Amino acid sequence: MADKKVAKAAKTAKIVVCGAGGAGRETMDMLESMNADSRWDIVGFADAGAFEGPVRGYPVMSEDDLLCYPDPIEAVISVGLPASREKIFQKFSKNPNVSFPAIVHPTSIVAGGVCLPEAVLIGAFCTVSTDAIIGRGVFLNGHCIIGHDSKIGDFSALMAFSFIAGNVIIGKGVSAGASSTVVQGLAVGDEAFLCVGSVIVRDVGKGAKMMGNPARMIG
Ligand SMILES: CC(C)(COP(=O)(O)OP(=O)(O)OC[C@H]1O[C@@H](n2cnc3c(N)ncnc32)[C@H](O)[C@@H]1OP(=O)(O)O)[C@@H](O)C(=O)NCCC(=O)NCCS
Repeated sequence: MADKKVAKAAKTAKIVVCGAGGAGRETMDMLESMNADSRWDIVGFADAGAFEGPVRGYPVMSEDDLLCYPDPIEAVISVGLPASREKIFQKFSKNPNVSFPAIVHPTSIVAGGVCLPEAVLIGAFCTVSTDAIIGRGVFLNGHCIIGHDSKIGDFSALMAFSFIAGNVIIGKGVSAGASSTVVQGLAVGDEAFLCVGSVIVRDVGKGAKMMGNPARMIG
C-alpha cells in the first residue's frame, strides 16, 4: 500500500496578468495573497505596450509573446473597459495554451450553485447572491454586491461598491462606475455606462450613459 505520508505532487500552473495598469497591479496583489500554497508560478504581466517591464518586479511580455506562448498558461484579464476585456479574451483564445480561469478573492462570497464561467474576475469583499448568473469575462471590482436572481452579461465591468439589487438584468459590455446602484427588477441594456454614484431607478436602454440620483440619461 502506498505511503499515505507521501505528499501529492504539487500542481503548479503558470499564470499571467493581462494588463499592467492599476487593475493589473491590483490583480497581482490578489494573486500573490492567494499563492501561499504556490499553486501558481506567477510569470508576470502581458500588455499591449503601454507599460514596459518590470512592473512590481515582474517582466511584461508583449501581446505577441502571449499569443505564441508555448506552454499551458492561465491568464487573468485585468482591464476595466468591457470592450477591451472582450478584445483581450478573443485575441488570446486563439492560443490553445492560454486558459482563463475564474479568479475570486478569498474574502468574497459566491453563493453555492452559482457558476462562474471563464475569464471572470472578482475582487475583494464582493457578494454574489443566490441564483445570480454571471457571464463570461465579467469583472467585479472590490465590494460589489450582486443580488439574488440577477444576471450580469458577458464582459460587463462593475467598479468598486456597485450594488445590483435582486432580479436585475445587466446586459453585455456594461460599465458601472464606482458606487452605482441598480434598483431591483430593472434591466440595463448592453454597453450602457453608469457614471460614478448613479442610482438607476428605471430601465436603461442599450448604450445609454446614465448619471446622477435618480439617474438621467446624458448620452
Ligand atoms: C462620467 C464620468 C467619466 C465623468 O465624465 P466627464 O464627462 O469627464 O464629466 P466632468 O468631470 O467633465 O463633469 C461634467 C459635469 O457633470 C458632473 N458630474 C461628473 N460626474 C458626475 C457623476 N458621476 N454624478 C453626477 N454629476 C457628475 C460634474 O460635476 C460636471 O458638472 P458641471 O458641468 O455642473 O460642473 C465619471 O462620472 C464616471 O462615472 N467615471 C467612471 C469612473 C469610475 O468609476 N472609475 C472606477 C475606477 S476603479
